[in-house]
Amino acid sequence: MTGLLGGKTAIITGAATGIGLSIAGQFHAHGATVVLADLDGSKSVDAASSMSERAYGFGCDVADEDSVQRLVDETVRRFGKLDIYVNNAGITRDASLRKMTTADFDAVIAVHLRGTWLGVRAASAAMRDAGSGSIINMSSLSGKSGNPGQTNYSAAKAGIVGLTKAAAKELAHKNVRVNAIQPGLIRTAMTAAMPPEVFAEREAAIPMKRAGEPHEVAGAALFLASDLSSYMTGAVLEVGGGRLM
Ligand SMILES: NC(=O)c1ccc[n+]([C@@H]2O[C@H](COP(=O)([O-])OP(=O)(O)OC[C@H]3O[C@@H](n4cnc5c(N)ncnc54)[C@H](O)[C@@H]3O)[C@@H](O)[C@H]2O)c1
Repeated sequence: MTGLLGGKTAIITGAATGIGLSIAGQFHAHGATVVLADLDGSKSVDAASSMSERAYGFGCDVADEDSVQRLVDETVRRFGKLDIYVNNAGITRDASLRKMTTADFDAVIAVHLRGTWLGVRAASAAMRDAGSGSIINMSSLSGKSGNPGQTNYSAAKAGIVGLTKAAAKELAHKNVRVNAIQPGLIRTAMTAAMPPEVFAEREAAIPMKRAGEPHEVAGAALFLASDLSSYMTGAVLEVGGGRLM
């Protein structure tokens, strides 16, 4: 098997679309067997079937403990091991503090922060037994700078950085690496939901003067998943066209 990930097994959450789908596609192109996990199970099955027999779609709710455990157990049962786990699934429930409900706050924390923690815990249990692994957590530049209207999302994304570093320290001696990515403004369904004037304003503030594409985040994930980053753990890679450097 050729490529940077030949013979590896990878789970990518939120992989039915957007950045997760692009990560799954690049990992697959580099030889990995990929499990595309998403709340929308049928969409992830469809996405996987457009790749090859090395791609599997799986319905999973990352905020649900049993669902995440099933995802990891089923992957290890079918493929014998788990080498790479990408905590990518995400949602937004944007509103000002005056308008944000407790339900909006809890939903975003549940998917991003609890979901990432559940993924790190389940994946690392499988990886530490094997003596190697790479876990990649999708944070955001919102977690570095704080975005108005995103107190829930910014808190979750900053929390993912702390979780990444703590887990990296716990797992380093087992040769399990844990790193994070902080994308800036990336063109996906998530940002298509933004008011066009807000998108344009954010884009104008980027030194590279354009939004990023999903494959440009997937490239950073590929690097962190592969042995090219074998001496990196607890790192946070910014993929934002120079924004908020
Ligand atoms: N697009 C951006 O500009 C941007 C910037 C920074 C960070 N991010 C982060 O990148 C990740 C991917 O974002 P995207 O833009 O591709 O979003 P997207 O909305 O295009 O895709 C998100 C995917 O996650 C899935 N999902 C949602 N809740 C889930 C759950 N509970 N369990 C399993 N799957 C679930 C959705 O079904 C969807 O397929 C997210 O964590 C997001 O916060 C995105």
